[in-house]
Amino acid sequence: METFSHPGDLRRHLDGLRRQGRSIGFVPTMGFLHAGHMALVARAAQEADRVVVSIFVNPTQFGDPHDLETYPRDTERDLAMLREAGVDAVFLPGVKDIYPEGSETIVETMRLANVLHGEVREGHFRGVATVVTKLFNIVQPDLACFGEKDYQQLQVIRTMVRDLHFPLRVIGCPTVREADGLAMSSRNVKLDPEDRVAALVLNRALDRAQEMASAGATVEEIQAEVTGMIQAEPRSHLRAVDVTEAVTLRPVSGKPSGPLALMLSADFGGVLLIDQREIFP
Ligand code: PAF
Repeated sequence: METFSHPGDLRRHLDGLRRQGRSIGFVPTMGFLHAGHMALVARAAQEADRVVVSIFVNPTQFGDPHDLETYPRDTERDLAMLREAGVDAVFLPGVKDIYPEGSETIVETMRLANVLHGEVREGHFRGVATVVTKLFNIVQPDLACFGEKDYQQLQVIRTMVRDLHFPLRVIGCPTVREADGLAMSSRNVKLDPEDRVAALVLNRALDRAQEMASAGATVEEIQAEVTGMIQAEPRSHLRAVDVTEAVTLRPVSGKPSGPLALMLSADFGGVLLIDQREIFP
């Protein structure tokens, strides 16, 4: 496994692989890897001849400087996990490698970036779309894997790939959960033990929403039930419960006729967690 920090060096390495006719699967990450990331790596390895992983804590997608500073990092451990998984190359750029002095170009999916979680986390999806565009241009992969836990992010990236004619396939991969149902996230280590238990309410709420949708509940009923469940957990500070049409994330009401997206976010002891998934009537 080789590591690169300069875009040009990684490009030269990948050009060599492409000349040998190898396809390239890409997994962008912000590091502090867990089983969820490794499932993306495994999927990329199933679909492509070589896997490239990037580790870059992207400053432009963080609203709060404290959140950026305290984002967990452990590059040595990450590299050992990626080596073990048979990854071909790891891209570990510095901020200046991605945002050269005087950078002024941004990428934004105008509607999708500014609704729902985008409304509460102003600028977040602009930061994601901008960095992922840069990474796609550097790596030029045949396919890229993203987790469905960040459902709105996945739709932002799919839309951007379609709109900007990126010649690559975006693969959405199911959320990997701890045995007790907590969605794997690099932020989970920041939870104290009581908050970690409290955070299980998110997965319970998603399960309950699916149960209700299967039993014919309306969008309003699902939204009210899920909101009540999270608010009833004393250690949670609810940020958002959004029920929308799946994929487009457009508003929906009454009895759903197709799949819905349910997107939850809440703070537990100051740690912002999200859990999102499609539910089916
Ligand atoms: O999902 C993430 O880890 C990040 O948002 C991503 C896609 C690597 C962009 O920084």
